Amino acid sequence: MGKVCVIGSINMDVVMEVSRSPAAGEAIIARAVKKNPGGKGENAAIALAKLGVETAYYGCVGRDAYGDELLENLKKYPVDASRVSRSDASTGTAYIIVEESGENRMIVYAGANEAITPEDIRTICRPMIEDSELVLIQLEITREAIYEIIRLCRELGKRLVIDAGPAHGWSAADFSGAWMVSPNETELSTLVGRKLTGREEILSGARGLLKSGISHVIVKLGEMGSLYVSGDTVLDVPAYPVKAVDTVAAGDSYMAGLCKCLSEGMEIKPAMEYASKCGAVAVTRTGAVSSLPSAEDIARFDMFQIQE
Ligand code: RIB
Repeated sequence: MGKVCVIGSINMDVVMEVSRSPAAGEAIIARAVKKNPGGKGENAAIALAKLGVETAYYGCVGRDAYGDELLENLKKYPVDASRVSRSDASTGTAYIIVEESGENRMIVYAGANEAITPEDIRTICRPMIEDSELVLIQLEITREAIYEIIRLCRELGKRLVIDAGPAHGWSAADFSGAWMVSPNETELSTLVGRKLTGREEILSGARGLLKSGISHVIVKLGEMGSLYVSGDTVLDVPAYPVKAVDTVAAGDSYMAGLCKCLSEGMEIKPAMEYASKCGAVAVTRTGAVSSLPSAEDIARFDMFQIQE
């Protein structure tokens, strides 16, 4: 089984559960407020470990109470987080509103996530990358660090999977040379610089990413499933019907399921089906890390599905 290396953000999530989001100038009362470990990088690393994948993770927390809590939490999972560093900046924090429908809105303060430098990638992360079958990143660390990861993966001949969230400020050309890029619909629109609606526009946007020198593209479409494009191959994988209570970390769970399968040499279509199950289970549970499925959950996936 292939080892996976994840380099990315680690945040404390401050979550408010509300019936609906407030309008401008309006105040509403939250049903509950919770503090959960999160961050796209850390979520994906823990998700991989829960799925039984040997996983190494690199990120950066502050020298503060949230940093202590997040490091303690990481110890509960079989993730090699021994290289995670600490910075004088505050630990990254995500302020999240989860509506009754399960949809979320989020504001992320990057803090210590932005302390990761290209030098850290060259020195701390290089041995982790060398030792891995596949590398997974997201876009919540600095642009310079991400460019260095893309460069290093190319130099070392490693498959790099980029979860293109959050895509604000990025364009397709920034990822030239990456093995795979996976945006959601909104992120794809950002990367190609125009609003995409409907399958044909999304497909043409995904093809635009391939023209920028990316080998494989998977667009995550939530309830509409996911779409794979590479060369002349196009694959549509439907989503599984589940009762959504909280969509936070569903994309991270999907990416972890996908990377598990790809690191084991599985074909793309069954890998996307497995990933869809991982994303689906995550939306049936609240929180980020707390929503991530184990390999056993996926093996008994039927119990999460709405039976038609
Ligand atoms: O993908 C969900 C994650 O995005 C949250 O845990 C939050 O911390 C942000 O990084």
